[in-house]
Amino acid sequence: MQLFDVYPLNPITIVKGKGSYVWDSEGTRYLDMYGGHAVISVGHSNDHWVKKIQDQVATLAFYSNSVIIDLQNQLADLLGEVSGKKDYQLFLVNSGAEANENALKLASFHTGRKKAVAFSKSFHGRTSLAVAATDSPSIVAPINETDNIIFSPFNDIQALQEVFKNNGNEIAAVIVEGIQGVGGINVATDEFLLEIRNLCDQYGSLYIADAIQCGYGRSGMFYSHDSAGVNADIYSMAKGMGNGFPIGAISIAPHIKPKHGMLGTTFGGNHLACAAAIGVLEEIKNNHLIANAAKVGHHLMSVLRQMPHIQNVRGKGLMIGFDPDEENADLRKRLLNNQKVFTGTSKPNVVRLLPSLALSATEVNEFLQAMAIELNIEQNAEIFIGA
Ligand SMILES: Cc1ncc(COP(=O)(O)O)c(C=O)c1O
Repeated sequence: MQLFDVYPLNPITIVKGKGSYVWDSEGTRYLDMYGGHAVISVGHSNDHWVKKIQDQVATLAFYSNSVIIDLQNQLADLLGEVSGKKDYQLFLVNSGAEANENALKLASFHTGRKKAVAFSKSFHGRTSLAVAATDSPSIVAPINETDNIIFSPFNDIQALQEVFKNNGNEIAAVIVEGIQGVGGINVATDEFLLEIRNLCDQYGSLYIADAIQCGYGRSGMFYSHDSAGVNADIYSMAKGMGNGFPIGAISIAPHIKPKHGMLGTTFGGNHLACAAAIGVLEEIKNNHLIANAAKVGHHLMSVLRQMPHIQNVRGKGLMIGFDPDEENADLRKRLLNNQKVFTGTSKPNVVRLLPSLALSATEVNEFLQAMAIELNIEQNAEIFIGA
């Protein structure tokens, strides 16, 4: 049997990880500034996280949502505390797309409406409603096409006001990434997020904050939407939540009332996934990793902004993007092949940095040194390194 060949692969076999590093089958070490696509939050094979999973799997890996799973309550308490949303309610799933699927469905149940607003360059996942709300026609199958999603330009307040003027009473929800990831690291302005909140309040629609990539501390705040001082009605999350163990969730405002049978899943919230997610939150809390992401990310971005040959350095915390100039269009490839550094990308040539939230100053300097060598500015390397 062969694998269904849908992924363009780097010819590298990763066999081991620790902290911000991974190793291939030949023993070569790589600095992971990609975090396996923003998934590694507390570091590869973090000791505390490993122990949590090992202890739990040896005790009980799974029992169904037909019984009390106390680990779900422990996770909810900790998430409420670390996210600052203690009065929200938690529904656990297994992935980001599933989180958004449930968020949109819940908004429709709650409002009795059918339409949702999404934005240009959005990415919300590959399942039916999530992909319909994704601005990428090539990944939308004919069966996913629907008139129920209205696209509006990202960060355009006037256009959004117009959408609500024409369709407001039919709109169940607005779904928005606080920082667009797959779309190329585009930061939503605070004014835009505030206007989404205003319009949702005015028209009785729900604000869904897709925090799957930009959430869980990555931006230097628990939710990047926090910078606007708004409370969303539903936050969707996944990626960093399990540090590689598959788990996703929606955090639901107290005014949205549950009903038995409204949502459900077999695997969501299983004992093992909860233990992994609790391990992650304990590490984030005890090691102040959100503050670390803010501090280290700020330093990294300010040094990148001084570097020649790269433009539009943007992002927040440890969610950073920049555009190499034309002669360095293959910078990502060179960083990987020559410097053994993983980074992420978006079209056309955006370099995306999504490392572990525990990234150290030494590891930042290692990355900057690699950049200096590849951009041929080695003689100035000392001004790009330090602090
Ligand atoms: C913002 C955002 N939403 C949703 C998803 C989908 O998550 P998953 O791949 O876990 O289904 C992603 C994945 O990249 C994402 O970046």
